[in-house]
Amino acid sequence: HRHLTGIAGLKPHEITFLLDEAEQWVAANRGSKKNDKRLRGLTQINAFFENSTRTLLSFEIAGKRLRADVVNMHAATSSVKKGETLIDTAMTLNAMRADVIVIRHGSSGAVRLIADKVDCPVLNAGDGSHEHPTQALLDALTIRRRRGTIHNQRVVICGDVLHSRVARSNILALTSLSADVRVCAPSTLMPAGIERMGVTPFTDFDTALEGADVVMMLRLQNERMAGGFVPSNREFHLRYGLTLKRLAKAQPGALVMHPGPMNRGVEIDSAVADHVDQSAITEQVEMGVAVRMACLDVLTRRSRGVKGWA
Ligand code: CP
Repeated sequence: HRHLTGIAGLKPHEITFLLDEAEQWVAANRGSKKNDKRLRGLTQINAFFENSTRTLLSFEIAGKRLRADVVNMHAATSSVKKGETLIDTAMTLNAMRADVIVIRHGSSGAVRLIADKVDCPVLNAGDGSHEHPTQALLDALTIRRRRGTIHNQRVVICGDVLHSRVARSNILALTSLSADVRVCAPSTLMPAGIERMGVTPFTDFDTALEGADVVMMLRLQNERMAGGFVPSNREFHLRYGLTLKRLAKAQPGALVMHPGPMNRGVEIDSAVADHVDQSAITEQVEMGVAVRMACLDVLTRRSRGVKGWA
């Protein structure tokens, strides 16, 4: 089976193909006919070992709109709490003959480990600091729809880049589609050697914002900073918070994005997040359902005997 464990390994035309596939679901979801029967009879298990609002709900809605039988496993109420290992949990899900498994896990590489053990396609819903591929696809779709193209768009990704799977997947997707990607973070939250990913690093947010077409803000991932440097919220806001004054340094009309959950008043001010013309934050959520419908459809095509992966 072909899995979606990350953007790494996808060719540019495969990313574009998934975005093109998602377009039909954006239109369908906005219309009166939100449902399609193509996953009827298939069982989709969403196994979430970490908290989620957007990703879990949108994968559930996406599966249901395609008529899959969707079941959710929350680690907090599962036998993981009794000491069951990740592999044993995966084998248990596999024995129930799932047709597609969606996994979120706190450890980088956990999704790949499970993908190698089960007999159905696996989709990564975020693993540790590694990847969050459907987030990058929904962000790319949002940018393409709002800016008309991704090619040559100057995208500034600012915040806790070091711990962010969203940043990593977005860097891979956006550079693959030839955007001009800048990353901005305090040096303690900037991965060493990040320029090897084809991006330009900045520690000064005001400089990074010059000429920006898109500004993507990331929250401080305090849950991944055990033992490391944790900046104070106040200090972080002062140097890296997106305020209206800072936004004015970007291109006029620059798109404001945030994957959520937001920490208002820390990495982004409410006046910016709720900016009616420039903020695409709720649109990102809308694109999330469409992108996940596309991914569930495309990844199960082989098992449904349908041709179609690019
Ligand atoms: N963007 C994102 O992954 O949000 P959740 O953690 O709420 O799923």
